[in-house]
Amino acid sequence: MNKIVEKYLAADRELIAPVQHIAELPLVVKNAEGPYLISAENKRYLDFTSGACTMSLGYGIKNDNEFGSFPFPYASGVNQIEYAKKLTKKFPGGFLSQIAFSVCGSDTNDAAIKFSRAYTGRQKIVTFEGDYHGTTFGAASLTTLPGRLSNKFAPMVGEIYSVPFCDEYADDGQIDAVIEKIKALDCNTIAGFIVEPIQGDMGMLPMHQRLMHEIYSLSRKHHCAFIADEVQMAFYRTGPFFSIENYPDVFPDAVTMGKHIGGGIPLGAILGRKDFMQALGPCEHAFSMAGNSEACARGLYNFNLIESKDFQDNLHKNIEILQNELNSLQLKYPSVIEKYTGIGLAYGLWVKSISSSEDDNEACKKIIKRAFDLGLYTMRIGSNWIRIEPMLNLDEKLLKEGMAILDRAVADYSEHRI
Ligand SMILES: Cc1ncc(COP(=O)(O)O)c(C=O)c1O
Repeated sequence: MNKIVEKYLAADRELIAPVQHIAELPLVVKNAEGPYLISAENKRYLDFTSGACTMSLGYGIKNDNEFGSFPFPYASGVNQIEYAKKLTKKFPGGFLSQIAFSVCGSDTNDAAIKFSRAYTGRQKIVTFEGDYHGTTFGAASLTTLPGRLSNKFAPMVGEIYSVPFCDEYADDGQIDAVIEKIKALDCNTIAGFIVEPIQGDMGMLPMHQRLMHEIYSLSRKHHCAFIADEVQMAFYRTGPFFSIENYPDVFPDAVTMGKHIGGGIPLGAILGRKDFMQALGPCEHAFSMAGNSEACARGLYNFNLIESKDFQDNLHKNIEILQNELNSLQLKYPSVIEKYTGIGLAYGLWVKSISSSEDDNEACKKIIKRAFDLGLYTMRIGSNWIRIEPMLNLDEKLLKEGMAILDRAVADYSEHRI
């Protein structure tokens, strides 16, 4: 490892508490440009995580100061209102909607719990096993992604129930069992369902169409709130603007957003039907930096870009290219890539070990490290999925280049060179 990187990593271990560490690769970022991360040693890495989907259009797309920065929570803000005009028009089903800006994805999921309870006067919240909703107390209480959170800070928020998640390959028996579990909770006492339509950190698993429709219809029949966590998947990551729009005729009471929404500056938002958003009063989900001007201005700038025809044409071309590339990779290395799961520009590659002396997890890490050495940044999700979430506006040539690096890394693994 390069000496500069080594020094920074040593200082990082010394100064930054473990709670902030997620990464497994020895990367120290000094800068970023377009689709590339630039390390402290000036090496460029094509970022196939899009900055954890916070920078889905690339880094530094507009490198100037015109966005301004004047966070001020005690007045209406022009940038906030202009952005709200655009986002409320995107609400699924075209219902009259309102938005509440906040700071990040986690706190908007806390808001989802608060609003669901306030709106229904009930307490029970239903989520799905393997979901990741964040790390504030409410969001952490919704999260059951294996291996992510300890229970050292229990007790968690009460009356939250996780039922099994069924991906698109589940059979009717499995889905029936989930419905029975939900019914056993007594639907008339459920405040809300909080659903990750595409379960991101478990391998980009789309929820089974039938399960989604069944829980939505239970929510309509029993007057429970139905909320889609769109923190990772909103803004066209899966094809449509919101991932819940992959489920025809399912119209949530609210969607939660974060990551990309602030164009690189912390921002979150819950967008919901107007009557639902009236359930809480002033200050009940307020933050000093909520809806800050710079984040709204940057978010709005990006919003206008992704609504353009050029962007949309390129996005749909990229979705097709990525699917073809993943298909070829799996056909080429069936003993290593068991399957790929996902939709749009959000995929997970399930890696298998080819050696009896190591587990699939280790095999996955080796391929990711090899790709990293070759200039591609990606990461492990779940236990042994490789995350593939390139920038939405990536040039076709770079998308193919990234996939070619992955191909080389898988080849090196399958031919025992790593
Ligand atoms: C689906 C989903 N929900 C919520 C969150 C939490 O968002 P944040 O990290 O902005 O708090 C994430 C972050 O990865 C996420 O992927």
